[in-house]
Amino acid sequence: METLRHIVLFVHLIGFAVLFGAWAVQAFGGKREFTRLMSIGMSIAAVAGLVLAAPWGLPDGAEMNYAKIGTKLVILLVIGALLGIGTARQKRGEKIAPAVFWLVGILTATNAGIAAIW
Ligand code: HEM
Repeated sequence: METLRHIVLFVHLIGFAVLFGAWAVQAFGGKREFTRLMSIGMSIAAVAGLVLAAPWGLPDGAEMNYAKIGTKLVILLVIGALLGIGTARQKRGEKIAPAVFWLVGILTATNAGIAAIW
């Protein structure tokens, strides 16, 4: 079970990498638009994150930090809302507000920071 949990963590990290990587390409030298790859990465990170949020496959005595997980979930929901708002605007042919675009990258990095540091 511990190995399976590590595999799910690996999938979670791939989701994070796809979301942040796709965003970074757009932020630095790109058109600063939201892409399908960002939504795909976020969905992978979300599903794997929710699986990891349940207490299974942990080493003996290890405890879950539910405040940390809850905070990450709230931030993920905000990222999802921003991606949804921006994508809808793009479909109408409008440009995404810079604050909406940058917040997606900042909040994604924040969630990775919370995961690694808290
Ligand atoms: C964009 C959103 C997210 C990003 C960028 C992200 C990033 C990360 C990273 C980098 C790790 C590895 C940390 C380590 O092994 O030291 C991690 C682990 C983890 N994530 Fe996420 N995550 C996100 C969303 C979520 C969500 C929504 C949940 C659950 C509701 C979640 C639950 C977990 C759990 C349980 C772990 C493993 C244990 C831990 O370090 O707390 N994550 N996440």
